[in-house]
Amino acid sequence: MTSTEKMRAARETAERGGTMSAARPPEGAKTPSGGSATGAAVERGGQMIILQLANVESSYGPIKAIRGISLQVEAGQVVTVLGSNGAGKTTILKTISGIIDPGKGSVHFKGEDITAHDPAEIVQRGLTHVPEGREVFPLLSVRDNLLMGAYTRRDRDGVARDLEQVYAYFPILKERQTQDAGLLSGGQQQMLAISRALMGTPELILLDEPSLGLSPRLTKEIFEIVVRINRERGTTILLVEQNANMALNAADYGYVLENGRIVMEDSCARLREKEDIKEFYLGMKDAGVRGERRWKRKKTWR
Ligand SMILES: Nc1ncnc2c1ncn2[C@@H]1O[C@H](COP(=O)(O)OP(=O)(O)O)[C@@H](O)[C@H]1O
Ligand SMILES: [Mg+2]
Repeated sequence: MTSTEKMRAARETAERGGTMSAARPPEGAKTPSGGSATGAAVERGGQMIILQLANVESSYGPIKAIRGISLQVEAGQVVTVLGSNGAGKTTILKTISGIIDPGKGSVHFKGEDITAHDPAEIVQRGLTHVPEGREVFPLLSVRDNLLMGAYTRRDRDGVARDLEQVYAYFPILKERQTQDAGLLSGGQQQMLAISRALMGTPELILLDEPSLGLSPRLTKEIFEIVVRINRERGTTILLVEQNANMALNAADYGYVLENGRIVMEDSCARLREKEDIKEFYLGMKDAGVRGERRWKRKKTWR
């Protein structure tokens, strides 16, 4: 399939209700109630690499959006890719989830080559993409949106339990469960998109800029829950963000992306201490924290 065909196929899957968060079979899956880990996703602190990109290059026609991207995500961690608008963050996630076929390089998930596989098949393997802009079904109720995320699951009890669990993470979704999702605020739709992904019990969630368009308060709330989901369920998370401040606090390990290339990587604890990061990504030069992002000031990292 070409990229365009795949995008269409993904959209059609979504329209049928499959969307990005179709479930894997539940056997061995981590459940919100703390069920057992699968053989693949080992306990936190383990060295197992759940996702690996090697030299990945993806283009839109003649435009190379990402070049030579190599990164890895350890099972059980939160890993972030930081970059300004247009750096290539979304392209990386679309390439992982099979929406775009890379021109070069490879993507491995749980040790298996999934490069350019079908998006629906990748979802079945336990890798779910929460896309930029949320993409909830506006005319379906909140509850039905959530159930869409679990539509391939046969374990009704598990689905019911997971529904209660996501309502516990985001009580507002329970309050609004019978309302059309299109009536939710942007922040609530983001909560719904994350929750719908969880309903499929993925091992790895790709999260595309959850802070986009949200107030600082809501952003903080959502990031806290993302961290809880990681800690409590053991779900591995690859988070791409412009909001370096939030992402560096939530994640364990980070990559910095500029113009389609990774220019720096380190533990988030160390990235937070780097002068370049403080100055250009956290806006902390001289007068201390200014709380504003300064993406306009371009900088070459090496
Ligand atoms: N559908 C598209 N067609 C052509 N160019 C695109 C398309 N989507 C993204 N791009 C280009 O690819 C680059 C990376 O985009 P993207 O991955 O969306 O960046 P980010 O998510 O970091 O903002 C940008 O230069 C952008 O203009
Ligand atoms: Mg993007």
